[in-house]
Parts: sequence; C-alpha cells; structure tokens
Amino acid sequence: MNPVLRLTLRVARKDESGQEIKKNYMQLKFDWLIVLENLRRGIMVTDGTLKGPAGPRIIYVNHAWLKLTGYGREELAGKTPRILQGKHTDRAVLNSLKQKLLNREVFHGQTWNYRKSGEPFLMNWYCYAIYGERPKPTYYVAEQEDVTELETLRQKQKLLINPNDADALSFFSVLDEWKSARKKWG
Ligand SMILES: Cc1cc2nc3c(=O)[nH]c(=O)nc-3n(C[C@H](O)[C@H](O)[C@H](O)COP(=O)(O)O)c2cc1C
Repeated sequence: MNPVLRLTLRVARKDESGQEIKKNYMQLKFDWLIVLENLRRGIMVTDGTLKGPAGPRIIYVNHAWLKLTGYGREELAGKTPRILQGKHTDRAVLNSLKQKLLNREVFHGQTWNYRKSGEPFLMNWYCYAIYGERPKPTYYVAEQEDVTELETLRQKQKLLINPNDADALSFFSVLDEWKSARKKWG
C-alpha cells in the first residue's frame, strides 16, 4: 500500500461583495500512515458491511488500538470488532450503533469491552461511515478510547453521595468480578 496520500483542497476566494472569484488548488503530501500510527486514540477501520457474522471485517487498526486491546495485528485477519464483546457488553448500545450507521448518522457511545486477556474496560467510541462514489459505505471508521479510569472517579463520587447508587455498584461489580477471577486463576 502506498503510504503517501495526496490531498487536494479546493480553496474558494471571495471578493468584497461575497462573490466567488477564484479557486485555488492546494496540494498536500504527507505520510498518513505515520500520522495514524502516532495518534493517541485507537483507530479501527472496517469494510462497509454491517451484516454479521462475517461483517464488519477489520481492515486496519493503529498502534494505540493494539496497545489498548492487547491483540497483535496478525490475529485480526478476518475478524470483526465483536472480538471485543463479552458478558457485560450492552446490547442496547450495539443496536443503537447499527441504527445510527444505517441512518448515515455518527454514533457515539460506550459499553464494556474486553481486552485479549479477558480484562473488562469501558470503551468509548465514535463511529461513522466513509462514502466513496457508490451510495454504499466504503469503510466504517471508529475512534476509540479506554475511559475506565475516568469513569472510576465519576462512579466513586456517586457512591460518596449515595452508597447504594445502582449504576456505580454495577460498574464496580464488573471490575471486581474480573479481579476475583484473576486471583482464582493465580
Ligand atoms: C468501525 C466499527 C467499530 C466497532 N467497534 C466496536 C467496539 O469497539 N466494540 C464493540 O462492542 N462493538 C464495536 N462495533 C460493533 C460490532 O462490530 C457490530 O456492528 C455490533 O455488534 C452490532 O452487530 P450485531 O447486531 O450483529 O452484533 C464496531 C463496528 C464498526 C463498524
């Protein structure tokens, strides 16, 4: 794959009356793969098929994504993002993602996902389609991050106000379940 992408930006100039007078074409040339690999947020790109079980097929993930999930690139051939799902993944969030993408909208949400080790973490992500010439999406892109630490602070504060806060208790029970399972396995 050629890592050099040429971006052509059309710059429209306007005169005092607001009339468009000139169009300039600016060419940028940069190594987009290096940029993606250095982002702090995880990036996942899939093909444009939402239908399971084969789709959406993962076609690219960046370095931050591999660090976040513990997977190696070689393990992802033919896989879908469902490899991240497990017992506490919220079905309603997944349905909302599907609905948003089918409506050509941007999805933003979070749910429990699981690293390769089985450790749960709270995945927060944006997901949207990239369209080419055809009306069908060419790719789906997700910008993903682990917000477990941030959510831990938020939920601790909630427990200070109300020690029986159901959301907070359920949040910590997922983390505790993992900790005690790990202890049992040694
Ligand atoms: C680009 C992209 C990224 C996705 N990332 C995640 C993810 O990080 N975690 C997750 O649980 N589901 C993720 N999904 C959702 C699943 O791939 C799948 O679409 C979802 O489970 C709904 O399909 P289903 O009803 O067949 O399960 C992602 C989907 C797309 C298109």
